[in-house]
Amino acid sequence: MTLRSQTTDLATNRQLSGWQAPFLGTSTARKRLKGEFMALRHWFILGFWIVGSTAAVRGESDSGATPNGIAPRPVSFVRDVRPILAEHCFTCHGPDDAKRKAGLRLDTKEGAFARLDGSDLAVVPKKPDESELILRIESDDANLLMPPRKAHKPLSADQIAVLRRWIEEGAAWSSH
Ligand code: HEC
Repeated sequence: MTLRSQTTDLATNRQLSGWQAPFLGTSTARKRLKGEFMALRHWFILGFWIVGSTAAVRGESDSGATPNGIAPRPVSFVRDVRPILAEHCFTCHGPDDAKRKAGLRLDTKEGAFARLDGSDLAVVPKKPDESELILRIESDDANLLMPPRKAHKPLSADQIAVLRRWIEEGAAWSSH
């Protein structure tokens, strides 16, 4: 039931309780009530926006890359790497067989470490420069660049650094 129909029902209801009657009896009061509801809704949306953006900032600073470069903590697959792959790669290299491109699966360990068609490897532990995944995300060639530009989900420099460091550190893969 919408607010409007609810207030209309209430206004025509002869058994209104004492405090409701003066508010809901006239159409101006009804409009005022609706206006207050709309204002409340704006605060609600603003609240979500603020919570969302601070969460995003916290996520950013939690990426594992320390700006001063001193003793950065090791990259965590679950915390740092998987979310990047999920957000930027899984649409085309994820669980959906029908949408998978180049037969490459990055949502399973077997898939990510499997040999590619050209017999290259997407991930060569400790060797980012031999890892096709790194060559693709760092490529200057628009034909090779991953994700493809048309996906409109480019990786940030920080995210590329996280993936490179993950491979440098041995490309540990854990499911928890
Ligand atoms: C919009 C779909 C799409 C997204 C998103 C995407 N890819 Fe791709 N990817 C493709 C297609 C299509 C190919 C095959 C054509 C080619 O080789 O460029 C491919 C090929 C690749 C290859 C080479 C596979 C081979 O057999 O040589 C790698 C590695 C790769 N992608 C990694 C990634 C990574 C890492 C991400 C996320 C950061 C990503 N892709 C996101 C569509 C996508």
